[in-house]
Amino acid sequence: MDRREAMLREMNLYPLWVRRDLPVPPAEAHPAESVSAVSELIKPVDAVLSPEAVLSPEAVRQAAPSAAAPQPQVEVARQQTAVEAPAVIGTAAVADMTEQAVLPEDVGESAADLFAAPHDEDWMGMTFREHEEGEDSLREFQRKVAAGPLAGVDWPELKQKVRDCELCNLRAGCTQTVFGVGDEQADWLFVGEGPGAEEDAQGEPFVGQAGKLLDNMLLSIGLQRGRRVYIANVVKCRPPGNRNPLPEEIAACQPYLQRQVELVKPKLIVALGKVAATALLGRDATISSLRGKLHDYRGVPLLVTYHPAYLLRSPMEKAKAWQDLCLAVETMSGLSE
Ligand code: URA
Repeated sequence: MDRREAMLREMNLYPLWVRRDLPVPPAEAHPAESVSAVSELIKPVDAVLSPEAVLSPEAVRQAAPSAAAPQPQVEVARQQTAVEAPAVIGTAAVADMTEQAVLPEDVGESAADLFAAPHDEDWMGMTFREHEEGEDSLREFQRKVAAGPLAGVDWPELKQKVRDCELCNLRAGCTQTVFGVGDEQADWLFVGEGPGAEEDAQGEPFVGQAGKLLDNMLLSIGLQRGRRVYIANVVKCRPPGNRNPLPEEIAACQPYLQRQVELVKPKLIVALGKVAATALLGRDATISSLRGKLHDYRGVPLLVTYHPAYLLRSPMEKAKAWQDLCLAVETMSGLSE
């Protein structure tokens, strides 16, 4: 068994890889430490990731009660808002979302509209609510939010602005803001959705179960948190009950992410899940239609893959995530030539 095969076995990707004849990234993408590091990192989620767990929903439930607890699920109709609600979410969240997320008719055709408006300097002084109640309200707010109001802001100032931010209601309900972590000149930028409970407590993105899987995904292509990698989220404050961020919350937080991208200057962005993909691409589409293609975020190449939390709930989809990671490695090596 060679080193790559050993690592794939340890990640429980090997059976999927063999069965589906997936590509393997080049050997140089797997530093020696990956194999032992993966076996260490994988422990807390081992049961969830094991092939047995794939076959046994009961084992998954026992291993990760919060991730796999049965939840009533309903289909949500497409909303005429800037960002689409997830297709399947809990009923409580749906009620919450449909009540709060329906924006005035003049909200604009799409998130692209929202993110492409001209520049204005003074929007940061105002809260979203104030804007919402103003005369041209939302369209005006979109125009002001959209255009890179943080141009010229450096890392320390940006971190401070995020700490001080009260542009939406999320700040009132979270413990602390979660700015982002890693190499501030990274080649790779991974973007998730928003902090969960553990991230809220620790102030760092992806430190819970999904974060452990993300670390393993990074290791599988020879990357490590903080080494040529930066990790950020679409929203910097934890949405209550881990619901998806609302369109206005995403819009309010968007300039911070935009500035993070400008400062990091990554060669490649990997959007993790639908919320990140939708927010960054400014258009609504399914993950399956977005994966496998190179997109663009303000001139930076962008790929889309599944969110690690989704992969914990749907381990069979790891095979597709593996394909996406292979494509990312291939794309990066093309970009680095
Ligand atoms: N999920 C996310 O999208 N981001 C985190 O930081 C943690 C979980």
